[in-house]
Amino acid sequence: MILVVGGAGYIGSHLVKELVETQEVGVLDNFSTGHRNAVDKQAVLFEGDLGNVQDVEKIFQEHQIDAVMHFAANSLVGESVVDPSKYYQNNVAGTLTLLQTMLKYKVKKFIFSSTAATYGIPEDDVLTEKSITKPINPYGHSKLMVEQILADFSKAYGLNYIVLRYFNAAGAHTLAEIGENHDPETHLIPIVLEHLQGKREKISVFGSDYDTKDGTCIRDYIHVTDLANAHILALNALLNGDKDTSTYNLGNGKGYSVNEIIQTCEAVTGRKATIDYSERRAGDPAQLIASSAKIEQELGWVPNYSLKEIIESAWNWHQRSPLS
Ligand code: UFG
Repeated sequence: MILVVGGAGYIGSHLVKELVETQEVGVLDNFSTGHRNAVDKQAVLFEGDLGNVQDVEKIFQEHQIDAVMHFAANSLVGESVVDPSKYYQNNVAGTLTLLQTMLKYKVKKFIFSSTAATYGIPEDDVLTEKSITKPINPYGHSKLMVEQILADFSKAYGLNYIVLRYFNAAGAHTLAEIGENHDPETHLIPIVLEHLQGKREKISVFGSDYDTKDGTCIRDYIHVTDLANAHILALNALLNGDKDTSTYNLGNGKGYSVNEIIQTCEAVTGRKATIDYSERRAGDPAQLIASSAKIEQELGWVPNYSLKEIIESAWNWHQRSPLS
């Protein structure tokens, strides 16, 4: 069995949807932010907390776990600045407990969800895995700390792991009834689509004086199913013994400004947005674009969804989601 920790969350639930096709899957989630009905019915559901040794031990005692994939983290940059304790507790201390329990039961294969936030204010136009990592907020620090723990555990205890640094995950499964459903929602694409559905009065664009082509921030958006497929390639590389430790960026390699995202949402929906250009949001770098050349070369991953397709899939889901 593959244990997916945080398998009820946005990215975890999309991964589980793909993984159940080829593997026996267990999902551990405490449902603090995830949704029970987002978990594929073929997965075995364990309600519990990754930081609770009893919850995790019970799973390892009752099931043969071949690898752990870890998606369970708090991931809001702004919140992490206001409440860093929550981030170090859940993202660092919780993960440490999970890793210790894994090692106790001799489970030594681990896939970890990391982030572009580990790079901080980028020194390179396009970020490779060799770019300098210098986080500017507790969320980014918490993820980089776990990356360090993994490197040290690998040397000392023979843990095999792959770190995947996501850029901006977006979009929804094209068939299943799952999509991006955060509460509160802070991400750009769902906010724009909710506005175009009439659920928000306007869109606040955070900063229009950045040193970018139109003054708004540039990000690299990647479809959540492309992310899921990268996880499956990474998992297979660990299970087959092709890789023992690796870190990969995951993005499309193309940057789009906030204005371009709004325009594409307008084109996809055929509706016009009301925009309010407001102050910059704390902790936002002007531009984050990934080079994913390493995972393309080493694992043969290629992203399949364009920005338009990402937004179309998100719009389809928004229109039929229970929240509509
Ligand atoms: N934005 C707006 N208005 C909004 C929401 C967002 O202008 O209402 C802007 C943001 O300022 C940013 C861009 O849209 O420039 C994208 O913002 P998101 O909140 O959608 O995504 P982020 O780039 O802030 O965050 C993502 C991940 C984080 C990760 C971060 C790395 O969601 O987990 O990239 O910087 F840490």
